[in-house]
Amino acid sequence: MTDLHQVLADHHRYWGARDLRSLHLAALVREFGDTCLVARGEDGIHGYVIGFVTPAGTGYAHLIATRDDVRGTGLGRRLYEAFADAAHRHGALRLKAVTSVGNAGSLAFHRSLGFEATVVDDYDGPGRAMVVFHRDLPLG
Ligand SMILES: CC(C)(COP(=O)(O)OP(=O)(O)OC[C@H]1O[C@@H](n2cnc3c(N)ncnc32)[C@H](O)[C@@H]1OP(=O)(O)O)[C@@H](O)C(=O)NCCC(=O)NCCS
Repeated sequence: MTDLHQVLADHHRYWGARDLRSLHLAALVREFGDTCLVARGEDGIHGYVIGFVTPAGTGYAHLIATRDDVRGTGLGRRLYEAFADAAHRHGALRLKAVTSVGNAGSLAFHRSLGFEATVVDDYDGPGRAMVVFHRDLPLG
């Protein structure tokens, strides 16, 4: 929980101008600790993933972010691999993630990790399409 408070305090270092603090639910971290992962450096938290495994066997990556000064070093990929391993150990057969249609960085990131992307109309309510990513497990 200390880690959650830390990334919320430094939220802009992970998400820039977008305010996603309300999606950082303490309940997720408390109840799905085995699939909520943190990458640490000497100067603090470099990246994290908050995710869980659904009863139907989907490893859902709710939030993944790396700090602005460590991007492009492969950390996001390593975090996803660690999440995939953890989710697989807990019964996941596939991975899923969702991002906003305009998040080109997230789209490129997920595609480079082998996810298929589908735009789903009304995913987030009437007129609010989202991009849904799918990838089978284990990762190749
Ligand atoms: C998306 C994010 C997690 C990527 O983290 P990262 O540590 O920079 O990713 P990596 O260095 O491990 O890159 C992995 C691959 O994705 C690609 N990639 C990552 N970000 C990219 C971008 N913005 N544009 C194009 N490609 C990108 C890399 O080129 C790399 O490809 P390769 O391995 O084939 O060479 C990071 O930019 C971030 O935290 N963004 C803000 C939060 C966010 O939008 N999260 C995703 C939505 S939930």
